[in-house]
Amino acid sequence: MIRMVLIAWSEKLSTGIPSIDAQHKHFISLLNKADDLVKKKKIKELNKELPEVLNYARTHFSTEEEIFDKTRYPFANEHKEEHLKLIAKAIYFYDKSVKGEDIGKEFMLFLKDWLENHLKKHDFKYAKYFRENKIKVD
Ligand SMILES: [Fe+2]
Ligand SMILES: [Fe+2]
Repeated sequence: MIRMVLIAWSEKLSTGIPSIDAQHKHFISLLNKADDLVKKKKIKELNKELPEVLNYARTHFSTEEEIFDKTRYPFANEHKEEHLKLIAKAIYFYDKSVKGEDIGKEFMLFLKDWLENHLKKHDFKYAKYFRENKIKVD
């Protein structure tokens, strides 16, 4: 059986910062795994996987935020706000799923939002800023 990968990594998703790209790749693999469990309705496994997603999101977001603090990135506050919203959403999903509710559709929208809005807009914004200002962060 061919396993559908929801988000596939490509150079188009690269920030140009190797350590950040490595984290994004790992995050994408966790999201794909969770999405697969959602689709297969493997609820028990999903409820074990969602905290992993949440923990890794926290780790990754703090990596970015430490870079913002170190470099005094001027758009740090709005970016941190976005991270808080994403974490709140992930907690919401976890709670819902633990209660036995189907998170399928919403989870898909969440993934799309993280990819299209967060990564491609907000993360790319700092990547561009560091590039243009020749700030080395890796
Ligand atoms: Fe971010
Ligand atoms: Fe990120």
